[in-house]
Amino acid sequence: MCGVVGYIGPRQAAAILLDGLRRMEYRGYDSAGIAVLNGTGVKVHKAAGKLANLEREVSDNLPSGTVGIGHTRWATHGAPNTPNAHPHTDQSGRIALIHNGIIENAGAIRKALLQRGHTFTSETDTEVLAHLVGELYQGDLEEAVAAALREVDGAYGIAVISSDEPDLLVAARNGSPLIVGIGENERFVASDASPLLEHTRSVVYLDDGEMVILTRDGYRVRDLEVKDIDKPVNQIDWDLATIERGGFEHFMLKEICEQPESLANTLRGHLLEEEGTARVSGLNMTDDELVAVERIIITACGTSWHSALIGEYMIEELARVPVEVEYASEFRYRNPVVNERTLVIGISQSGETADTLAALREARRRGARTIGLVNVVGSTIAREVDGGTYLHAGPEVGVASTKAFTSQVAALALLTLRLGRLRNLSILQGRQFIQALTALPAQIEQILAKTDEVKVLAERFFTGNHALYLGRGVNFPAALEGALKLKEISYIHAEGYPAAEMKHGPIALIDENMPVVFIAPRDAVHSKIVSNIEEVKARGGKVLAICSEDDSEIERLADATFTIPQTLDLLTPILAIVPLQLLSYYVAVRRGCNVDQPRNLAKSVTVE
Ligand code: M6R
Repeated sequence: MCGVVGYIGPRQAAAILLDGLRRMEYRGYDSAGIAVLNGTGVKVHKAAGKLANLEREVSDNLPSGTVGIGHTRWATHGAPNTPNAHPHTDQSGRIALIHNGIIENAGAIRKALLQRGHTFTSETDTEVLAHLVGELYQGDLEEAVAAALREVDGAYGIAVISSDEPDLLVAARNGSPLIVGIGENERFVASDASPLLEHTRSVVYLDDGEMVILTRDGYRVRDLEVKDIDKPVNQIDWDLATIERGGFEHFMLKEICEQPESLANTLRGHLLEEEGTARVSGLNMTDDELVAVERIIITACGTSWHSALIGEYMIEELARVPVEVEYASEFRYRNPVVNERTLVIGISQSGETADTLAALREARRRGARTIGLVNVVGSTIAREVDGGTYLHAGPEVGVASTKAFTSQVAALALLTLRLGRLRNLSILQGRQFIQALTALPAQIEQILAKTDEVKVLAERFFTGNHALYLGRGVNFPAALEGALKLKEISYIHAEGYPAAEMKHGPIALIDENMPVVFIAPRDAVHSKIVSNIEEVKARGGKVLAICSEDDSEIERLADATFTIPQTLDLLTPILAIVPLQLLSYYVAVRRGCNVDQPRNLAKSVTVE
């Protein structure tokens, strides 16, 4: 999704802005631009496509000035071309504005502005907002922005500058994240922390409905009326090294390889082996409150939705609490049956996904208690839920989620233990679950040591444009996740299915050109999945099986196997997904795809 960055201070702004945009590339974008106050006016540079195009355009002629804004655009209103790229200016050309989000009543405002003589150079809702600010400007940018925002409906994270007030930068948020960075005589604003880290660790998280007025040596937060708001200053503990590639060719590969450590970090400090349970103090719920939960709804999008499905299997099996898993985008517009005995869990890597945030807000409005399993510290979901736990997986930069997924499943395992031990789970079962969880990081190391095997399989199996991923029980969601990984970064059409469902339709697709990936560890449904492999082989399909060590039956049937260590049935997705992540990665690399920034995708989907 769009990336917003702004700077005001003693240094030249353009280089800082370009560097900030580079750090936000992972969010996904299709054009970029900057605007700098150069002493006489606003100097705007924009270019369609990758940031390198913009850098080429400004390389000989970097605009001079110490106040500026920069933007990477992920197209919503209008094609991804240069005129639609941000920043946009008002009618006078003296105010420049960047925007992440969607102004829903932009059509009506545009019409009214056209009638009053405005002319537009783009198809965007953002230019409409810039013109509205310009029309309301009477020598006070702060007031003009507040007045304009009072007229708009929709989501925005904006930053605005004016050549008439060269010592000011105004930003505001409603529905799209914004963070203020506080440096030595300089201030920043950005969509996330990544552009700020090399300059400062002191940040202020803006909430919806808030504006910030930045000067070189100060800042003030207010609402859209007149009220000033006191905000705490937070310290970010991620350092720059953790958001850099550290010798890996891609962030995705780095993040896949980080999983032994990220998983250990998710579990660290939570496991109470002696008592066979987990401590999840961030839930902010007493034992009595946890026991009173009658039903759980887990809501999320994409990969996080897949981990939610695994959570459903774990919680129902070990804690015996009924669980439903809902796409957040569906939940938010349904009329769900939710009450104060319903626990609604939102799962999100970014903590900013618009649909997940809205679903949690709706659940709360209906009286449910909400908790979040979130990776990004200080993100909106993390701040709005009643409780929860951070994943501590570290920053995930690759658009394809990898380490966040395994950490989400681990966090759900912690929750399962906590809920289970307050109900029927015995201390021995609890201890056994903890021992299996504790063994996972080393088991992932074992899998990663066989990366070269996966490379060969990627060469051998994925030569066409389609693939099928099949699993049963708790590995059905793992099959969904494996298929999603392949399609999003290699653009190969891949489908995940419960293996037994194959004969109700997808079996028609099976022939010698269709690679079928089975997740078939030695578990409670092993004999069933062996039958499903037989069905595929009988139709000439090519089978790649992710299976347990020494499984001669599957080795005999499958065209190729990749073995994973033995663990408890419920935890197998954490191991099975690792070779599938690597497989997608190597297929995408071989096809020459942009692994970390796949086409059309955004890391953090902050519009619905
Ligand atoms: O930040 P979130 O976990 O809320 O993001 C949800 C999805 O947008 C995300 O998982 C998406 O599906 C990824 N591209 C998957 O790799």
